[in-house]
Amino acid sequence: MPNKTLADTEYVQFRQFLEQHSGIVLGDNKQYLVRSRLAPLMSKYSLPTLSELVQKSMKPAERQLRSEVIDAMTTNETLWFRDRYPFELLANELLGEFASLGRAVKIWSAACSSGQEPYSIAMTVLESQQKRPGTVPNGVQILATDLSPSMLDRCRNAEYDSLALARGLSEERKRQFFEPCRDTSMRLKEQVRNMVNFRPHNLLESYASLGKFDIIFCRNVLIYFSPEAKANILRQFAAALNPGGILFLGASESAAGMTDQFDMVRCNPGIYYRKRG
Ligand SMILES: C[S@@+](CC[C@H](N)C(=O)[O-])C[C@H]1O[C@@H](n2cnc3c(N)ncnc32)[C@H](O)[C@@H]1O
Repeated sequence: MPNKTLADTEYVQFRQFLEQHSGIVLGDNKQYLVRSRLAPLMSKYSLPTLSELVQKSMKPAERQLRSEVIDAMTTNETLWFRDRYPFELLANELLGEFASLGRAVKIWSAACSSGQEPYSIAMTVLESQQKRPGTVPNGVQILATDLSPSMLDRCRNAEYDSLALARGLSEERKRQFFEPCRDTSMRLKEQVRNMVNFRPHNLLESYASLGKFDIIFCRNVLIYFSPEAKANILRQFAAALNPGGILFLGASESAAGMTDQFDMVRCNPGIYYRKRG
């Protein structure tokens, strides 16, 4: 029977390693989570013990294994038009506001998982253009990033099975923006796929090469980070936003008490943050 436990000292080391590379903070007694998430990699790499897998993944030369371990430890839960209000606000107010500045509206979906968020943004833009031609005369540029190479592959492939399609997508949107591919899966049409540019990016690293944005979506990932990492990320978001730019966080996330660079705006039923100045 392979040893699937981690000694306390190894668990502490692994937690530090995971936080250092991804920002994710594991709780005190999450050995079971590590065990269940990493068991498939033990088989894949024929490593007889969890301890060996963990030790190997922490070696600087083991880039591929390290990326797979971090991937296995992240939560990729997502859905189409999540929380609805950010997309309604985008359609009803924000696209018009930023388009009136006379240039392309620049939007970043940070930590985009399997692509539902940036593609929901793209569909919202297309719908707005259909309803009100001329809303965004200079177009919209959408950048989507994630730490996980496997998630980015799924984003670029843009194929979704029936389970994923059933989460947040109306029949009308399915008809309009998707085409059948294999079995019961569907693929986003080229027009939508071409609107989003995908790039790997770790939120713990520099944002300087990404450019400036009018709107940033960073939802349901900061919840896993330490207060220091969150504060640092919020600082970098403020620097990456144009004056008056907008930040959307997840429904259970808040920037309160962590930054003085944003005003919190209530927009019943949700909130968003507007960069000061
Ligand atoms: C729960 S999903 C959120 C997806 C989407 N934003 C949403 O709200 O539906 C969290 C994503 O954050 C990514 N992630 C975790 N740590 C990250 C980091 N340090 N930098 C960038 N992305 C990260 C994971 O790979 C995962 O795809």
